[in-house]
Amino acid sequence: MANETWLFGYGSIMWNTGFNFETSELCHVKGWVRRFWQGSTDHRGTPEFPGRVVTLIESASEHCWGTAYRLPACEATDIIDDLDYREKGGYDRTELSLTLSSGRTIAGITYIAHPHNPNYLGESPLEDIARQISFSTGPSGSNKEYILELHQALEQHNIQDGHVETLAQLILRQTESTL
Ligand code: SIN
Repeated sequence: MANETWLFGYGSIMWNTGFNFETSELCHVKGWVRRFWQGSTDHRGTPEFPGRVVTLIESASEHCWGTAYRLPACEATDIIDDLDYREKGGYDRTELSLTLSSGRTIAGITYIAHPHNPNYLGESPLEDIARQISFSTGPSGSNKEYILELHQALEQHNIQDGHVETLAQLILRQTESTL
């Protein structure tokens, strides 16, 4: 239906949704991948010691799986206002095409931290990213909680993501070696 509002979550929105929705479905976005390349100074780190959270990075031949949420029409504006605030640390509300697991393609919105935003950190060796996540914490909690919750949510939905999987394993190994 033309006036349905669908929201795509691929990061914290998957495990800490925080809003009402009518239905949710697995879906993917073509031409994007999930990467821990965005700095977090307001949720999982501080301006002095930023954490790392996920953003979507363009990659023509790949796609990113996540969850599509259909918002209740009467609450959609308020939910989006709240998310604009929650994602204000560098993310832009962006429209893109979502392919639902049923095969249906719909228009949706998501939050993407593009490389020009001031908190963007970009690519680094995975060991360095894992170390930064292991030691960062911010007003919303530890950065480790963010990645481990995301890792678990992806596993629960049978979504394979080599980037998140490798980082989660490195972080668990680093934690064991410091015990
Ligand atoms: C999302 O969850 O879809 C956006 C990125 C984040 O807040 O982790």
